[in-house]
Amino acid sequence: MPKPKVYVTRNIFEVALDRMREATDMKLWDSELPPPRDVLLREVHEIDGLFCLLTERIDAELFDAAPNLKVVSNMAVGFDNIDLDEATRRGIPVGNTPRVLTETTADFAFALIMAAARRVAEGDRFTRAGLWKTWGPMVMLGQDIHGSTLGIIGLGRIGLEIAKRAQGFSMRAIYHDAIRNEKAEKEYNIEFIPDMKTLLSESDFVTLHVPLLPQTHHLIGEEELAVMKPTASLVNTSRGPVVDPKALYQALKSGSIASAALDVTEVEPISMDDPLLPLDNIIITPHIASASVATRTKMALMAVDNLLAGLRGEQPPDCPNPEALQ
Ligand code: GLV
Repeated sequence: MPKPKVYVTRNIFEVALDRMREATDMKLWDSELPPPRDVLLREVHEIDGLFCLLTERIDAELFDAAPNLKVVSNMAVGFDNIDLDEATRRGIPVGNTPRVLTETTADFAFALIMAAARRVAEGDRFTRAGLWKTWGPMVMLGQDIHGSTLGIIGLGRIGLEIAKRAQGFSMRAIYHDAIRNEKAEKEYNIEFIPDMKTLLSESDFVTLHVPLLPQTHHLIGEEELAVMKPTASLVNTSRGPVVDPKALYQALKSGSIASAALDVTEVEPISMDDPLLPLDNIIITPHIASASVATRTKMALMAVDNLLAGLRGEQPPDCPNPEALQ
């Protein structure tokens, strides 16, 4: 029996590639950058399985170009890059990588909260620019983290880990979500705020942990930013389009909020002409919240498990569209 054909859209850990080499006839796009769209559409023509990343758009056009495709394994927890309904209609299960990145992502969101509050990136730029002349009583003043109010929008797995960390920093943690979680409220001493604008107006830090859906596109726009405190920071480690970047620019520029820290941007990578980049009161990191060696290794191996299960005709262990196989 010939081995199933698989295309892998980026160079990943050898341990994960080896497992695919053993079980499949694997072809690797051996680059740091994603394959161009025309290359991807050509390469999927004969494949049975696709191992991809959130940078690849997986839609009807791609499915049309891949008539033998049996499984799409996305090395990410989010799958807004994939047209899930279209995959389901065609009987193609999708794999994703939840849980293993929860704590690593929460750690990073917390790093951004702290970096925004205490102006860490700005302080580093200040030093390198030769502006550090003396210890100054008024130099680089920021906001305290301990004793502040942390607003969590989206209390899923990552939001919960944030709530845990907030306890260690003696913060008051409040949350807003479509679904109330009374068990977590008791366990982590967090308070449910049914109205998102109330949460925004009470928080010193707002951290976003929602998936990108039509309902969460530009969830944070002009009206939402307008009710935040002028001393507050907005942190986004979810998906870029959850925040309206034009409204954020206005809020940061006018001082209607103090700062922002984004690990995700509306367009990735952010254009070097983007008006957000010259602002001093924003930190922008290149979508690295889950990027620890241990976590990215686990994500890669988990994505391999999903891929191989799909190739055997089984449901991938983590599959957001199990109905595809019914
Ligand atoms: C990263 O953003 C992921 O969805 O895993």
